[in-house]
Amino acid sequence: MSSPTPQDPPQQLLDDAALTEAALVQIFDDLATASAPQLVAAMRYAAMAGGKRLRAALVLGAARLASGQEAPQGALQVAASFECLHAYSLIHDDLPAMDDAETRRGKPSCHIAFDEATAILAGDALQTLAFELLARDDLHPNPSIRAGLVHDLATASGVTGMAGGQMLDLEAETRRFDLDETRIMQAMKTGALIRAAAVAGGRVGGADPTLLAALSQYAECLGLAFQIADDLLDRSSNADAMGKPTGRDADAGKASFVDAMGEDAARHEALRLVDEAAAVLTKTVGKNAPWLDYMIKIASFSVGRTH
Ligand code: IPE
Ligand code: IPE
Ligand code: MG
Ligand code: MG
Ligand code: MG
Repeated sequence: MSSPTPQDPPQQLLDDAALTEAALVQIFDDLATASAPQLVAAMRYAAMAGGKRLRAALVLGAARLASGQEAPQGALQVAASFECLHAYSLIHDDLPAMDDAETRRGKPSCHIAFDEATAILAGDALQTLAFELLARDDLHPNPSIRAGLVHDLATASGVTGMAGGQMLDLEAETRRFDLDETRIMQAMKTGALIRAAAVAGGRVGGADPTLLAALSQYAECLGLAFQIADDLLDRSSNADAMGKPTGRDADAGKASFVDAMGEDAARHEALRLVDEAAAVLTKTVGKNAPWLDYMIKIASFSVGRTH
């Protein structure tokens, strides 16, 4: 059965990661005068510690696809917002009460580098910072676009999205999930934020409802494929390559597609989902649309990645 071919990140993704990181540096520099420097240090530590910046790339790619041009300034702020929300989710995911992971992105996890209380607060503050960035006046002149972004990020990261999915992920440690339950859990814990990133990019890029729906479907497939790849890498890769502990999901009794379907079928499903993502978007924008190729590369990299 076919396997995803290991891939280096596309150059555009590396360029978008650099743009996003520069925006994040500015955001944390602006917070440097805040009166809790230790908290800002922990936030910066977690948010700046590398990472593939996949959610940022989805925002920027979708904004360009929608606008047909280089991403508007607000798109970079949206990209930074999603990376802050994601960094918060990783800090809390690594806590002893959750996955108890001592490394992240090749460095000590936030609660090891600082302490547990500081890590919890850094997660909290990164989460609220993500919403503040979306609500700022300078993000987009139209307040209803800003409100839409805030709404979508809230539903993607709260009880109906990431936090709810993380709750189910923990529940799965105590009882066996079938394939449908696993699919729902994965779509919530990882897929919802990924989907919201692509839709948010579309919103700031001026996408019409048809394109927003296509971006949503594309990213739903991509998000599921991405988490399947994460679960496969947990089994097949190692902590050095991944920058985080591996081989623990099965011991912890985590529900995954790999568990529910077996490795070969899970790999096949991830590749099928990438093809579906590409097909959905291509059908809507036409195969010659500028930036479509980048969106397809992001989808393919989501499963071909090596960390
Ligand atoms: C890790 O996400 C957490 C999951 C949802 C599986 P990423 O693999 O995107 O982490 P970074 O941002 O590149 O470190
Ligand atoms: C975490 O999934 C998803 C989040 C919402 C953070 P995992 O627990 O599989 O992520 P990793 O493997 O620790 O990055
Ligand atoms: Mg987890
Ligand atoms: Mg984890
Ligand atoms: Mg994992």
